[in-house]
Amino acid sequence: MPIKSIFLIAILFVIVGCSVRNQKQSKVNKVEELLAKMTLEEKIGQMTQVDFSVIGAPAGQNLDDPIDKAKLEDAVIAHHVGSILNTPTTPQNKAQSIEMWRKITQTVQAVSAKSRLKIPVLYGIDAIHGATYTKNAVLFPQAINMAATFNPELSFKEGAITARELRASGLQWNFSPVMDIGRQPLWPRLWETYGEDVHLASILGASYIKGHQGDDFSASNKALTCLKHYVGYSFPINGKDRTPAWISERMLREYFLPTFEAGIKAGSPTIMVNSGEVDGIPGHANYHYLTTILRGEMGFKGFTLSDWEDIKRLYTRDKLATSEKEAVKIAVMAGIDMSMIPMDFSFYDLLLELVKSGEVPITRIDEAVSRILQVKFEAGLFEPDNKMLSIEGNFATPEAIATNGQAARESIVLAKNDNHILPLKKDANILVTGPTANLLSAMNGGWTITWQGDDESLYPKNQLTVFKAIEKKSTGKVTYIEGSSFTDEIDINRVIEAAKNHDTIVLCLGEKPYTETLGNIGSLNLNQAQINLANAVIATGKPVVLITLGGRPRIITAQVEKVDGVILGFLPGMEGGTAIADILFGDYNPNGRLPISYPRDTNDIVMYDHKPMESYESNGYKPLYPFGHGLSYTTFQTNDLKLQKDKFTLDENINITVTVKNTGLRKGKETVLLYVNDIAASVTRPSKQLKAFKKVELNPGQLEHLSFTLTPDDLSFIGVDLKRTVEVGDFKVMVGNETVTFSLAK
Ligand code: GLC
Repeated sequence: MPIKSIFLIAILFVIVGCSVRNQKQSKVNKVEELLAKMTLEEKIGQMTQVDFSVIGAPAGQNLDDPIDKAKLEDAVIAHHVGSILNTPTTPQNKAQSIEMWRKITQTVQAVSAKSRLKIPVLYGIDAIHGATYTKNAVLFPQAINMAATFNPELSFKEGAITARELRASGLQWNFSPVMDIGRQPLWPRLWETYGEDVHLASILGASYIKGHQGDDFSASNKALTCLKHYVGYSFPINGKDRTPAWISERMLREYFLPTFEAGIKAGSPTIMVNSGEVDGIPGHANYHYLTTILRGEMGFKGFTLSDWEDIKRLYTRDKLATSEKEAVKIAVMAGIDMSMIPMDFSFYDLLLELVKSGEVPITRIDEAVSRILQVKFEAGLFEPDNKMLSIEGNFATPEAIATNGQAARESIVLAKNDNHILPLKKDANILVTGPTANLLSAMNGGWTITWQGDDESLYPKNQLTVFKAIEKKSTGKVTYIEGSSFTDEIDINRVIEAAKNHDTIVLCLGEKPYTETLGNIGSLNLNQAQINLANAVIATGKPVVLITLGGRPRIITAQVEKVDGVILGFLPGMEGGTAIADILFGDYNPNGRLPISYPRDTNDIVMYDHKPMESYESNGYKPLYPFGHGLSYTTFQTNDLKLQKDKFTLDENINITVTVKNTGLRKGKETVLLYVNDIAASVTRPSKQLKAFKKVELNPGQLEHLSFTLTPDDLSFIGVDLKRTVEVGDFKVMVGNETVTFSLAK
């Protein structure tokens, strides 16, 4: 290339580089300029987030205009509130039409434009599997199911579609994704996580964020994400939501921080904090986590948000603070930048007092407000052209619905298929029974149209339950008899009678929707009524396909041993019924894989990446179905697992190749999982850890050569000194039923 053009390109780089730096710089200057103009009250208002109820008309009134203008002015003008969350009206919360959302957000911004400094309100909403609270939004499989797809591209698309539908609703900040790791199956929010594995959760969460935010989340079809719930919220020792977790520093750094690191690296600008406590320190009072680690080590530059009421709960629940005022001081000084004490202005009032008395330094206020303003500038909130995205072409589009259908299909796990019971014949006479067979809510879970997702009457009438989808696709006789509810036997005898003139029974068991503490349970065992129904169905001697739906792996061991087909559906979203019917009749070849270990018994909870002593002598990793399990209607085989050499230095990448072949008779997708084991180290190492995966689609007989690269970081662990380290020694790489070894040396 001629020298002149290299010179011109170099000049171009310098110009572009300067302009990007200037843009960032200008935003920092804009923040400093604005901060300098702000009164103390205006600053503290920016740190204050309140629920819609604080600005809303009383529940049930003014349904065509749920905002109370006087209350809105009181919040945004008199109390300078910088953020509002949620949909009308807490606690049930209820989805609104997209037109109503556009009206609500326009009204809020119009009032913020009347404030002295015209700082726009940042409106936050939970949209964890699509725009939860916008009617007819595309509602995806929940995170546990998205993890079961092992498909980062689908997670990216889910993020992009969710952002688009939020912006068309006038909303711009999503309290999602959950980056908590799901290693306690009793926990009622397991289904909001990407499962038990750090690598899988990190990849899928980061993909979701990149789809949701793009390279610039101020773009008209992009929106802000929020990593939650930082950190250690998902591991309550007794499995109940918002109860103590005991997580050592090493475990925290090995299993709980990495997903948040991945989310920060993916660019999420906000983080919501853990409502529980770890080692006796409530998440909202933990300076070590919120400041020393999050800021000092992880370099997070955005702002932190408390979870619901949790600052006040440092006093009212945790007995850490001796007053609400002390609770505010503890939380702000620990590192909470914005407060979700949602139902009043107590945070605003108390923090004002604390700053005026000198108990909280203005420097801490300026630090928090600068972070919040920086995010608002980066979100384009101050830009005059920060318009709402048009509904047309951006909301509930055929393409988005099709993507949702694909995600649902890829999220379903075929766990057992004996005697080729599946796929079913279209003309088969099928008896469908069980509590989850004819409910959309059982496929969507919490955060669906309402907070708990359990109001079936509010679900769209045009969506298909499992039963309705089977009925639509079948050319035979399809009969539905409920048999039992989630907790009570209803008409089991009618099921037994009906079984006589049907070829196959599809038995749908599982859980009703729930989230947070309302989903707490004492055992993973299924309710006895469901077990009785299952036993009666099995006793008919007819072929049975057992389908489970719900947020947790309920114990089905006794039933599974006596049926030929098992499908684990978890929460496949609004297209779940169609997806399950497609798989039942063979119109889609299943390829979902378990992102969790499915327990054999309620107290037999062992993770796939267990320690050596957990599979020593009589101990063992013996789940009903292991992490990564999932069958297909075809077969695949991996072969020729190879490394380019078997000795590496500590700083070298390791290139690995393997072939995968479709050895069956049908086209199908296969996820190739690459595990690593560090054979001996100064801290006990997991028997295996997922370090890479690739999903491919192959025709019968087709094979593909795959290559993977492991970096030194992939071989690292948290050492005795609590620092991430890589040690010399021998390692195993495992793919399918092959293992190769290599060694690291200085
Ligand atoms: C809840 C949840 C959190 C949610 C927030 C706002 O308590 O813990 O996940 O984003 O409140 O609804």
